[in-house]
Amino acid sequence: MADYNGTTVLITGASSGLGAEFASQLAARGADLVLVARREDRLADLAARLEKNHGVTVSVIAADLAAPGAAASLVETLDERNLQVDSLINNAGFGMGGQFTDEDPGHLSGMIDLNVGLLTDLTRLLLPRLVDRSRRTGGPGVLLNVASTAAYQPTPGMAAYGATKAYVLSLTEALAFETRTSPLRVVALSPGPTKTEFFDVLGSVTDGTDGTDAAVGAFQTAGQVVSLALQELDRKKPRPSIVSGRRNAVVATIARLAPRRLTLALSGRISQ
Ligand SMILES: NC(=O)c1ccc[n+]([C@@H]2O[C@H](COP(=O)([O-])OP(=O)(O)OC[C@H]3O[C@@H](n4cnc5c(N)ncnc54)[C@H](OP(=O)(O)O)[C@@H]3O)[C@@H](O)[C@H]2O)c1
Repeated sequence: MADYNGTTVLITGASSGLGAEFASQLAARGADLVLVARREDRLADLAARLEKNHGVTVSVIAADLAAPGAAASLVETLDERNLQVDSLINNAGFGMGGQFTDEDPGHLSGMIDLNVGLLTDLTRLLLPRLVDRSRRTGGPGVLLNVASTAAYQPTPGMAAYGATKAYVLSLTEALAFETRTSPLRVVALSPGPTKTEFFDVLGSVTDGTDGTDAAVGAFQTAGQVVSLALQELDRKKPRPSIVSGRRNAVVATIARLAPRRLTLALSGRISQ
């Protein structure tokens, strides 16, 4: 198992869902943490609980990561507070459902700013440091970007959201190759439907409480998704991308192999 003791992991979107679960599981494995999101009270409560239960150091940075220049000012704050980061989990993100032309333009650009812009800028700024520290300390340094099963095929009804996640998947796999001679472990994690606040934010009709939904399929828990990701990151040479859930993984593989027109037709039929 990777030994996170004495290393620091920065997690974006740590106030709920997958981000909070990453924080809990990594703290249980000895990692110090930097937690970032807008809801400071939530981050502070989580930080206090993890410090008490696991004896780790948890720093909180409240920030709107979709704001212009958010990545640069986050890195500035890290430097001001002398926080050296060994690992980055780019998890903050949200989805939008509906016909593309009905989507609110401001909300749409906010989603692209967060899911794509912030992830790109923060990765660009921190990647050299992550690589350098993984070389000097021997790891386990991690860059984990949260994509989605929506990344594997076009998603009519969530067209722009799916496109942001296709970007995350493609970027991360390419970075896994570019950094292959360093000990840094670079992985794109693609969860399927997972019980978090994601669907509340999306405004979907389902909250997943019955465990299934006709449109999106069976739900996993955040605990299941994060355990799988950390298990993959225990490998010295993890796969560049993983899909959470056996059924999701099969569907993603088929989507990658099937002719694009067929994939689009099936995806469109399921989602609309
Ligand atoms: N749940 C699913 O079914 C599912 C499936 C595939 C992929 N994903 C991906 O998983 C990731 C985590 O989502 P989740 O399911 O855990 O949903 P969630 O419970 O809604 O968590 C989203 C996190 O992102 C943060 N966030 C949103 N907007 C932000 C902003 N402008 N600035 C800073 N932080 C912001 C939220 O914190 P604040 O509101 O406090 O800022 C929250 O901590 C996302 O990238 C999502 O696309 C989720």
